[in-house]
This record gives sequence, structure tokens and C-alpha cells, in this order.
Amino acid sequence: MAEEFDMTRVTVVVHPMVQHKLSILRDANTGSKQFREIVKELGLFEGYEATRDFPLEDVHVTTPVCKTVCKKISGRKVAVVPILRAGLGMVDGLLELVPAARVGHIGMYRDEETHEPHEYYCKMPADIDKRICLVVDPMLATGGSAIAAIQYLREQGVKDIRLLVIIAAPEGIKAVLDADENVRLFTCSIDERLNERAYIVPGLGDAGDRIFGTK
Ligand code: URA
Repeated sequence: MAEEFDMTRVTVVVHPMVQHKLSILRDANTGSKQFREIVKELGLFEGYEATRDFPLEDVHVTTPVCKTVCKKISGRKVAVVPILRAGLGMVDGLLELVPAARVGHIGMYRDEETHEPHEYYCKMPADIDKRICLVVDPMLATGGSAIAAIQYLREQGVKDIRLLVIIAAPEGIKAVLDADENVRLFTCSIDERLNERAYIVPGLGDAGDRIFGTK
């Protein structure tokens, strides 16, 4: 049965360049160097969408020609929060967009018996509760790690959490949106489904292995 979820909380980043780059990522013949570059670029593209509602304030600027009034971002600061390890691949793209952002890391492992995710490493900026958190992980499969990461950030007092992934399975989207009623999701693609090994179909394989050249 098709998964049902609230699409008003999901943004699919639709752009020819995004689709083109995603096709290169999906190709099993694409090597780690190009894969890594594109994951970073897609992090940047997604960052544009995820920051689209950031408020602006007036700023007075003197150009070489005259004085004028321009806009600059105002309001709360940003933290980029990669879920280890594949999420690391998207961090540099987001830092190009928001250079002043702090980076918090969340490491999760999956218990072999219970299949429950457990955090083994968390290091956040001291003022994480006052920041907009862009949680990044290229693949949203079952949603287990993302849900645990979001729950951890809520426990730290974070109010505004936006999850940025490159490919999402419908099962993972539903799980994440059901688990947290305020999180918003950004993805470049909603794929068909998960297979019996919890890989996304058609997907791109194991994102962490392809970014870091491991297997
Ligand atoms: N994680 C990945 O890297 N790939 C998948 O297909 C699912 C989870």
C-alpha cells in the first residue's frame, strides 16, 4: 500500500541541475571523487530551499556609486548537524551557503538484535537550543537514525529542525513525520520503496561507502 504523509511538510527540490546530478549519483559506475563532489553540491542546492523562509532586515550599504538600502539575513543562527557518517558529505556544501553556521555531530549505530538506533557520539554547539538545526543525511531509508537524531535535538531544546536528505523512501518519510509533528523535510527525490535489506529502490546504494570509498 502506498505510504500516506503530509506533503505540506515535505519539499522536493525540483530543478534540472538537481535531476542531472542525481542521475550521476545513482550510476553504479560513478567513482568516489565525483560522488563526493555531487553530494556536497546537492547539500548546497538543498540549503537554498531549506533557508528560503529566513527573515531579512534592511542594511545600509555604500556602493561605488551611491548609498543604498539592501537586505541581510536576520534572526536566529544556524547549526548544520550531520548524522555520521554519510551526513558529513553534505556539510561543506551547506557551510558554503551559511559560512557562520556551527556544526554539531551525531553518531548512530544500529543494534544488531533490536534494530534500534543508538547514539554513540554527540557533540553540539553550546547554544544549540537557540539555533535552527539543518540535520543532514543523504539517505532517508527506514527513518530510524533521523528519528533518533531529531528526538535527541528536541531533548536539547531545539525548536526549529529541518531534515535535509538527497533521496527519501516513502516509508522513511512517513516514519519521520509521524514521529515528530513539527520537523520539515527537504529531499531531491522520493524513490519507490525499501527492499528487504532496507536499501532504497532504485536509490544509489550505500551512500557512506560511496562517499568514503569503503565497502
Ligand atoms: N543508507 C544508504 O546509504 N543507502 C540506502 O539505500 C539506505 C540507507
